[in-house]
Amino acid sequence: MNAQQDAPDVEDSSPSQSATSPLRPPCERLSCHKSSVCSRSYFVVVMVFFHVYIINVIALLFYVHYSSGQEDASRSRDAPATNHQCPERPPSKPEFLREVSLTRIEGIRVGHVQRVSLIPGTVHEMRTLSLKPLLFEIPGFLSADECRVVMQLAQLKGLMESQLMVQDGQEELAKELNLSPEEIFNLLDINQDGQLQLHEILTHSRVRDGIWLTPENLREIYAGLKADKDGNDLLSLEEFKLLSNDAFQRFLLQRGVKRSQLVRNSRHTWLYQGKGAHQVLQDIKARVTRLTRLPPTLVDLSEPLQVVRYEEGGHYHAHHDSGPVYPETACTHTRLAANTSTPFETSCRYITVLFYLNSVEGGGETAFPVADNRTYDEVSLIQNDVDLLDTRRNCDRSNLRVKPTKGTAVFWYNYLSDGRGWVGEQDEYALHGGCVVTLGTKWVANKWINIDPDYQRQARYQQLVSQHPEEDDDGLTLNPDIQSPTIHQDL
Ligand code: OGA
Ligand code: CA
Ligand code: FE2
Repeated sequence: MNAQQDAPDVEDSSPSQSATSPLRPPCERLSCHKSSVCSRSYFVVVMVFFHVYIINVIALLFYVHYSSGQEDASRSRDAPATNHQCPERPPSKPEFLREVSLTRIEGIRVGHVQRVSLIPGTVHEMRTLSLKPLLFEIPGFLSADECRVVMQLAQLKGLMESQLMVQDGQEELAKELNLSPEEIFNLLDINQDGQLQLHEILTHSRVRDGIWLTPENLREIYAGLKADKDGNDLLSLEEFKLLSNDAFQRFLLQRGVKRSQLVRNSRHTWLYQGKGAHQVLQDIKARVTRLTRLPPTLVDLSEPLQVVRYEEGGHYHAHHDSGPVYPETACTHTRLAANTSTPFETSCRYITVLFYLNSVEGGGETAFPVADNRTYDEVSLIQNDVDLLDTRRNCDRSNLRVKPTKGTAVFWYNYLSDGRGWVGEQDEYALHGGCVVTLGTKWVANKWINIDPDYQRQARYQQLVSQHPEEDDDGLTLNPDIQSPTIHQDL
């Protein structure tokens, strides 16, 4: 076997041997001999150039074709009558191309100050308080008069208890599911180590009953029922079986629950901000739109303003304003547009804008226990000695505390970005709470901006709402206290 047969392709590119080569004529035209210019590397360079050129042309053609296709699509959305341009798409189930991208304000670094124009002709300073969560503070966002008006309107409307003493419904749910002690044990055992740590039981009872049991309360219950025989704060399955389902309820009934033992101890009301509302309320909404740089429709279709009043001794333990979203999670505000009933629902509050309506004489800070922590570790939030979620005891251990000052607004993102200009995953660092008010009263207001992480569902919802122009925007929003539980997504 000779070398030529073994490697015919790389053998030679000389004109005499590659008679069928398309490159031969140029070489002939140049009437060059077997020189360096006509060598194999020259051939390769020319071929590479040629291919790059062709690929560029093809890419350009694709680009032109694709962008004109998008224009067509958006034209057909603007004018539904011309929908025949895409006959394969049934008009009853519109697919919305992502044409809206949500602006996310950049934090740059903690302490960074940016000047923003929220009211024409005026400038406010916005300071970055943390990057995880992305959190800002704007002093003087509301004038003293505006604060006064909001508090007076809330009082006029009347405030109700933010959390009722008894939470119904859970018992029936548990009975309906008919879970065995093993199954319940397994559900509660978050780290799946076959034992129930104190924080595993605490997290559960706080979410389920809205009652803030402390580790000491729990040890008392264990002792009363002789459940934790070895006294190591851990429950095995056998020990857990000794705790009857209503052991907690009976304990609480015996002892009585004080308001200070609830997850949240405050009163609140809702103020609508749509057409016809007090000018101050409409102005605040417009200012929030400018602050967040989000499409006005999204702000218009969000929950009304929530005004909260804490008496001396009031608090709100650490919580998330909105829960995590799984593929099967629905948003309260877009339920109209959801075509299936889903097992999970959350309020999808993308942004929280919190306004301080008065300066509090003692306590009442807003605490962010894990802001800008290097890592987020749910388990270490509740250690046996320190419970970082407890804002009555451990606010001083929070990474960040904001002192309530009349007129100041703070705002943060409860969700990350999905990287494509829309809402992504829940930001676990957005955990926060209201520290106990030690002197005087505390007034705050919350403006939540609700956005469905499912773009299609948000778009469908907006389309549905826009088909009822005779209805006021706020008129379509259900009473928030019927929509969602009185407490937010608590841990
Ligand atoms: C809330 C809240 C914090 C505060 O109302 O959801 O977190 O400082 N308030 O009152
Ligand atoms: Ca465990
Ligand atoms: Fe909150």
